[in-house]
Amino acid sequence: MVSSLMEIDMQVKQGFKEIISFIHQSLSTELTIETKSNRRDLVSNIDKEVEAMIRAKIKEHYPSHEIIGEETKQTEELQSLEHVWTIDPIDGTTNFLKQIDHFCVLISYYENNVGKLGYIYDVMNDDLYHAMENEGAFLNGVKIISPAPISLEDGLVSCDIGRWHTKSNFAKLVNQCFDIRNFGCGGIDSIHVFHGKFAAFVNSDSGPWDLAAQLIFAKELGLKMSKFDGSPVDYLVGGDYILANAGCYEDIVSIMKGYES
Ligand code: IPD
Ligand code: CA
Ligand code: CA
Repeated sequence: MVSSLMEIDMQVKQGFKEIISFIHQSLSTELTIETKSNRRDLVSNIDKEVEAMIRAKIKEHYPSHEIIGEETKQTEELQSLEHVWTIDPIDGTTNFLKQIDHFCVLISYYENNVGKLGYIYDVMNDDLYHAMENEGAFLNGVKIISPAPISLEDGLVSCDIGRWHTKSNFAKLVNQCFDIRNFGCGGIDSIHVFHGKFAAFVNSDSGPWDLAAQLIFAKELGLKMSKFDGSPVDYLVGGDYILANAGCYEDIVSIMKGYES
């Protein structure tokens, strides 16, 4: 049986109720925390449990669909690209663990490499952002208006200062934009670009789960999204990316060209 995007969207929204309630309950429980690639790269039992819950829900309705999840990566194991989901169960894990409000759940759904549905659930504000191919982007069901052009000179730019302060590109960006801000949660930083509060979010070393949903929002909102050199982002690979308002995108690409990680 082939499900319409509307049906899938309804199921995801229904599924979020249980997931978000579980995350809220987890805030008062004792967490098990482990390090991953380095001492700043943390994962908790809740990240893993939320991913398992989302996976189980997808598999219950769509057993043949493929899933790329941050905590159980398997891009290399995909059998088909016909139906692919990405999951970042808790985006902004450091904030979550340090009890800072800015963390979210990121989910996307692609068919044959085309982004169909994107979700960003801002947990503490209880705000659900969703985007559907050719239908637009929405906050709690209300359509988001594409932001007006913002020049780099007037724009706030988000990037991870801790990771970037030694980069010459970063110094140029700081000099040319209005100022720098960063929530430490790619999903929440991206939301600020959707609303035109930030001119851009510039991020490095992302996994597919960090950017796949945002690609769908960017298309629906007329925003620009690419790698640092201006080439297209591959949602199956991840990597470095610029999500920017059309009014400053070209300037940021010029600054980021030649970036070395
Ligand atoms: C990270 C956050 C961070 C961004 C990193 C992501 P995580 O996700 O979104 O703001 O700069 O690139 O990996 O590890 O908290 O899911
Ligand atoms: Ca993430
Ligand atoms: Ca995560």
